[in-house]
Amino acid sequence: MVKLIGNKIKLQGQRHKDKTVGAYDVVCIGRPAQDTLLSGDIFKAVCQHGVCHSNIPLGAKLSIEDSSVTYGGNALNASVTFARQQLNTALVCQLGEDTVSQNITNILEAEHIESSHIYRDGLVKVAQSTILVAPSGERTILKFSGSEIKHHAILAMLENIETRWIYASSLGSLELLQGVIQYANLNQIRVAFNPGGLELTNPAELKLVLPTIDTLIMNKEEAIGLFGNLEPAILCQAASEYVKTAIITDGPNGSYAYDGHQHFFQPVSEDVKVIDRTGAGDAFASGLVSALAWGLDLKQALEFGAKNSTSVVMHIGAHQGILTRA
Ligand SMILES: Nc1ncnc2c1ncn2[C@@H]1O[C@H](COP(=O)(O)OP(=O)(O)OP(=O)(O)O)[C@@H](O)[C@H]1O
Ligand SMILES: [Mg+2]
Repeated sequence: MVKLIGNKIKLQGQRHKDKTVGAYDVVCIGRPAQDTLLSGDIFKAVCQHGVCHSNIPLGAKLSIEDSSVTYGGNALNASVTFARQQLNTALVCQLGEDTVSQNITNILEAEHIESSHIYRDGLVKVAQSTILVAPSGERTILKFSGSEIKHHAILAMLENIETRWIYASSLGSLELLQGVIQYANLNQIRVAFNPGGLELTNPAELKLVLPTIDTLIMNKEEAIGLFGNLEPAILCQAASEYVKTAIITDGPNGSYAYDGHQHFFQPVSEDVKVIDRTGAGDAFASGLVSALAWGLDLKQALEFGAKNSTSVVMHIGAHQGILTRA
């Protein structure tokens, strides 16, 4: 059984000094992924009767203009924010023993994110997407979700971890989410949750686990899917029937929050030129949670979430613009 380290860490302006492996400020849980972006004229859409297709002849060998590989997944992206904000951070997930897994491990090492609680299995394949970018900027995504989540093995990795916060996003398994939340409640760990694809496909089951979540962050469309077609402030109120604090983001229109007593609205921090909005949601949610983990209040946390995400949309990829604590 894990002990609560809770108030042991004095947060205003200080980093967690206890660098013992196994004691963290934030543990992120979720599936990492590799994205390969391919761009070129050959991905130009061919449209007929209002329906557009990529026109790639079967069996052809075709040249493209550019190719790049990035690593992401909501929890990995978030863990980069926490580590750059000088919070003691670990990622819990499953990886294989292939090059993709090794590259992800290298990123964790470079960003000072603890990787020793990762479940590793030579048979595990990491999620991978290949994104075909047409000259118009439109994208066709070929998505491989990776191996099935071994949720018992991943939960076992949590056993010896002490942490103040768990940040869960796109776990790829509702059983895993349920197990993580149960574990957090038993050990009085605060849970921040930013639901991803699979978690949102089953609203009824998702709603059952929400009441034990501290901070729920989702975008407007996701919230509408769960609580109905309402205005963002009302969506926050509907969500707060389940969770302690509900935050709804609405892209360039800013974000909304409700803590059960007070409503908040946070505009985007600056009207900036958007270069690439990949990772905006992750940067916002993890920026917000890092401010909370540093002991700031919800208003300040919303401001920092907006600042972090604004910086991310000004750079290519999900990691480049993430802010580093001075
Ligand atoms: N064009 C923009 N300019 C400045 N900030 C932005 C812009 N788009 C998004 N943001 C910031 O990012 C936050 C999250 O954006 P959004 O609501 O699009 O999240 P999301 O849909 O979860 O994103 P993602 O697709 O990355 O999951 C916004 O509340 C805002 O602070
Ligand atoms: Mg999102």
